[in-house]
Amino acid sequence: MTITSKDIQKAVEILNKEELVAIPTETVYGLAGNIYSEKAIRKIFEMKNRPLFNPLIVHIHSINQLNEFISYIPKKALLLANAFWPGALTLVLKKKSHVPDLITSGKDSVAIRIPNHPVTLALLEQLNFPLAAPSANPFGCISPTKAIHVEEYFGNNIQMVLDGGNCKNGIESTIIGFPYDEPVVYRLGAISIEDIEKVVGKIEIKNKKESTPDAPGMLSKHYAPLTNTYLASNIEQFIKSFPDKKIGLLLFCSEVNAPQIIHQEILSKNGNLEEAATNLYSALHLLDKLNLDAIIAERLPDIGLGKSINDRLERATKK
Ligand code: TXA
Ligand code: MG
Repeated sequence: MTITSKDIQKAVEILNKEELVAIPTETVYGLAGNIYSEKAIRKIFEMKNRPLFNPLIVHIHSINQLNEFISYIPKKALLLANAFWPGALTLVLKKKSHVPDLITSGKDSVAIRIPNHPVTLALLEQLNFPLAAPSANPFGCISPTKAIHVEEYFGNNIQMVLDGGNCKNGIESTIIGFPYDEPVVYRLGAISIEDIEKVVGKIEIKNKKESTPDAPGMLSKHYAPLTNTYLASNIEQFIKSFPDKKIGLLLFCSEVNAPQIIHQEILSKNGNLEEAATNLYSALHLLDKLNLDAIIAERLPDIGLGKSINDRLERATKK
């Protein structure tokens, strides 16, 4: 797991050749390529089987680079960047014309962030270009929070997976756009709305679940296990309708007793929402491998990161 400067050098060489490298971030692993290489970017979309209308996030290493890519930076965007970067916040801002249309799906805005992971920051500093990196999972599937998840999804089709350990936040970045000068939340994520409001005041949330939302990747069905998955507020009651099934549970902090339960994953024994977010996707990956008839997830308290986790669970269980 320990990454050496030689590993980073190898990643630089692969990326310079317009090939892809999977990179660790504090949120989830990304499938990364040079934003200026049409070949690399097309390969990202192909490997993920991702529709071209779903734009990518540009990863940079320094706030000083913002001016290179963004034509207009609202005051509150700068406040947020200063408060949370490097970190799990993505800003959607008006792009400069040299940012390729393939990255932004033809939009005049670009999503941009500085990830907070030492390996990826060191890599970005050694490159002459930023990295476009969506989460390193096939479109619609559970996001990867360990190098092994990426290897299981893409195997030999990817030249290098930089193993930076388990992702600390475990859930994607919070995305904030500026259609005008005021911030709007496009995707709930690893930074809670409460923490964002401490910096910019009350904020509008447009984290919609219809098929053509403001952030085009925010389709209603997403982050889904292959196993049939359900979301319930009262687990004990809900599992009564699965009397003869093999079921697995994804629970917040305490276990449940019932004969049909094959396995249960507890997200945080202490009821800590940050810890629950960290463990969310790896628990779903694990449950999905057990050949269950159903996975039943418990709805978390609707505060702080509980809101972001519930959002992912709603999309994962959408029928
Ligand atoms: O935590 C993260 O953000 C991870 C790591 C790897 O950085 N990346 C990630 O990328 O989650 P992805 O591609 O899975 O999600 C990117 C989201 C999509 O929902 C997309 O619609 C939105 O960002 N997005 C990108 N550019 C946009 C734009 N110009 N306007 C609105 N939404 C945009
Ligand atoms: Mg994704």
